[in-house]
Amino acid sequence: MRYSNTLIVRPVRNGQGIIALKPFAPGKAICRIRGKIVTGDTVWRYFDSDPRRGDNCFRYDADHYLDPEGEIGAYANHSCHPNSGAIMAGNRLMLKAIRSIAVGDEITHDYSTLLGADDIWKMKCACGEPNCRRVVRNVSRLPAGVLAGYTALGIIPEFILATRCP
Ligand SMILES: C[S@@+](CC[C@H](N)C(=O)[O-])C[C@H]1O[C@@H](n2cnc3c(N)ncnc32)[C@H](O)[C@@H]1O
Ligand SMILES: [Zn+2]
Repeated sequence: MRYSNTLIVRPVRNGQGIIALKPFAPGKAICRIRGKIVTGDTVWRYFDSDPRRGDNCFRYDADHYLDPEGEIGAYANHSCHPNSGAIMAGNRLMLKAIRSIAVGDEITHDYSTLLGADDIWKMKCACGEPNCRRVVRNVSRLPAGVLAGYTALGIIPEFILATRCP
């Protein structure tokens, strides 16, 4: 499935995933994550009617989530050694490269960077990286060194950091 001239969706290690059709240098924007902005109540209802859709939602701000159904974000897989990170550019949720990405590489980000301390969602991880955390939980459960690295890269949005206990 082709979403743009630079990205394609195809089968990867964990189902479908996003593949780069051009190289991205560190710091470069990869894509905007588009979708419908919904409340937490709506996400809870998805877990009753269509859990996959609930699983796919991105935290968008303190009170809202972004439902990427039908958009490329619905195929963004997690890695414990990601090559991209989520950033807010105004009201746009974007993925930016945090390492050099080559043509054919899968674009991954770390889901914990968009899970506030008040998010209870978790996932058994099968990223296969040597530093895999096995279970992906919210930002407050990130190892200190990983949190420091992501914070330095600017890939944990302020509204996520604000959910942590001081
Ligand atoms: C946004 S979707 C990504 C697209 C998905 N792979 C698919 O084929 O529809 C998120 C879902 O992908 C799966 N997933 C993503 N990253 C994973 C990982 N590192 N380990 C295991 N499952 C993963 C989980 O089922 C998760 O809820
Ligand atoms: Zn992992």
